[in-house]
Amino acid sequence: MLNRILPVVSHSRGLASAAAAQRQTNGSGASTSEQCMEREYKFGAHNYKPIPVVLAHGKGVKVWDVEGKCYYDFLSAYSAVNQGHCHPRLVEVMKQQSEVLTLTSRAFYNSVLGEYKEYITSLFGYDKVLPMNTGVEACESAVKLARRWAYDVKGVPENQAKVVFAENNFWGRSIAAISASTDPDSYGGFGPYVPNFEKIPYDDLAAVEKAISDPHTAAFMVEPIQGEAGVVVPSPGYLRGVRELCTKYNVLFIADEVQTGIGRTGKLLCVYHENVRPDMICLGKALSGGMYPVSAVLADDEIMLTLKPGQHGSTYGGNSLACKIAMEALQVVLDEKLSENSDNMGKLLMNYLKKLPQDIVTTVRGKGLLCAIVINPKIDAWKVCLKLKENGLLAKNTHGDVIRFAPPLVINEKQVKEAAEIIGETVQSFA
Ligand SMILES: Cc1ncc(COP(=O)(O)O)c(C=O)c1O
Repeated sequence: MLNRILPVVSHSRGLASAAAAQRQTNGSGASTSEQCMEREYKFGAHNYKPIPVVLAHGKGVKVWDVEGKCYYDFLSAYSAVNQGHCHPRLVEVMKQQSEVLTLTSRAFYNSVLGEYKEYITSLFGYDKVLPMNTGVEACESAVKLARRWAYDVKGVPENQAKVVFAENNFWGRSIAAISASTDPDSYGGFGPYVPNFEKIPYDDLAAVEKAISDPHTAAFMVEPIQGEAGVVVPSPGYLRGVRELCTKYNVLFIADEVQTGIGRTGKLLCVYHENVRPDMICLGKALSGGMYPVSAVLADDEIMLTLKPGQHGSTYGGNSLACKIAMEALQVVLDEKLSENSDNMGKLLMNYLKKLPQDIVTTVRGKGLLCAIVINPKIDAWKVCLKLKENGLLAKNTHGDVIRFAPPLVINEKQVKEAAEIIGETVQSFA
């Protein structure tokens, strides 16, 4: 009897304190940044070290903290809000669909999924889509699909399929993703790892050929530009070379476009810069414009139809709300010509960045609005980010000395200029 009562008592106490906590901050901005940060720290896992700013709302390329200070968002939630914060069309579609039907699970059909599947496969030119939620799920699903294709179509002996990845890749935090990682911060202390994952240097076609000529190879999965590694752009011809080698050795070319896709690099997909068609494309992040986790794998029937009912899925994957949001998010990118704007504004931003003093900014690189500067190792890039924040621009360093600049793709010329001035002044202050 006691066992039955105890959880009820502690649950109601939990509810009371949760209600009290909510009274303290009722979403009206009653808390200070300091209080919000302390609270996060006290009640949450310490798996992030954010820039100390507490954001309360956003519009387009700008965000405001709880004290009302305005900033340029030069991270875009790691390229998820390409369409800009709280895009009115996405807010509207989210409101509308959330009042009609949100989630049925795939135990039943829903009235939006078919429309979405037709829309996205026609847009990107693949036979089929596999809907998932987060980027890591899309990539993991692609790896599963590749293994299944290797056994069913290529004829690799059971349990011997190999998948090849580039060093310094990043595709998330699941056990499979960290098994593919070469970053000790990511994989260290979480073993044992998924077997038969081979890692080769990025931007090295000879290494690709050596690895994938092994007849047990199912796939080579690669980012067209390595985002988390610090916006590493491969040499011209690399993606074309990968395509040719994968075709030659009957190996699937999986492009992880979770960060580079949906207009970020100046084309709808980054692989379009080299006119190549991977066998599978992984999309996520901006597929929902920051409204909701939506991801997808695109592939043709030979690959996708190896999956049979019951062999893969996700409760939320393909839900009505996600499908409506994704269609609108893609259509916004097309209607507002955001890929073209990314190309133009990216060139403008890079021109400004290239004028920064070279003793502080040693390298500038990127494509479209996925740019980065490398800070002289004598200067702490984290401190540069703190100073940028103070001056009204938010960015986060990756791998120590690299600061990525990836504003929402709706940014205009005046805003690029203003932001570049902030970056210029900030960098100069470290001279
Ligand atoms: C290239 C790439 N793939 C996959 C992922 C994982 O996406 P998510 O964090 O939505 O799981 C990321 C996240 O940064 C990424 O940059």
